[in-house]
Amino acid sequence: MRTIIVATQNEGKVKEIKKMMEDLKVEVKTMGEVGIDIDIEENGKTFVENAIIKAETLKEYTDAIILADDSGLEIDYLNKEPGVYSARYLGKDTSYVVKNQMILDKLKGVPKEKRTARFVCAMAAAARNLPTLTTQGTIEGYIGYEAKGTNGFGYDPIFYVEAFNTSTADMSSELKNEISHRGNALRQMKEKLKELLEA
Ligand code: IMP
Repeated sequence: MRTIIVATQNEGKVKEIKKMMEDLKVEVKTMGEVGIDIDIEENGKTFVENAIIKAETLKEYTDAIILADDSGLEIDYLNKEPGVYSARYLGKDTSYVVKNQMILDKLKGVPKEKRTARFVCAMAAAARNLPTLTTQGTIEGYIGYEAKGTNGFGYDPIFYVEAFNTSTADMSSELKNEISHRGNALRQMKEKLKELLEA
């Protein structure tokens, strides 16, 4: 059985990936479980570049498949900021309550049609002697006029989805996984891995 190591410290992401990979004949482990502890500089210009940098750096330390992701928020009115800098944007130690309020302030008076935004998630799977696989998922939305909801994390309270007329922080985790950038990228990756493992 092949092992997939998920290159993240985020327990929520690990849980989601384990659940989705349940019917593939693979064992999903975390970096902590296999004792890999390496800090990687994410200096790519795109989400996909960063996911590849992570996966291809880590594959050298193991025989397993490394699954890495990189994600963030693009706000059209702010020239697609924060983009790949989403985690560091407005200071890496600034709380998201403050960051989200700062974004709402930057968009003060901006009409709804100019508040368009999207979450993007790129995934890369890499292993020695295998071609690196990549996928990307997005979810379109807009920056609301106020923070709403207590689920999720990061920019969820200010990211609204038109079809649901509310923020992704105001949705159940099941609904968010179904429609989110990460769920989408992960479903595509699962199909690609399935093909590769069954070949
Ligand atoms: P990373 O891919 O874990 O490095 O995440 C980058 C950053 O993008 C996070 O720290 C959040 O600020 C933001 N982000 C990515 N996905 C989401 C999401 O689903 N909700 C809210 N914020 C997100």
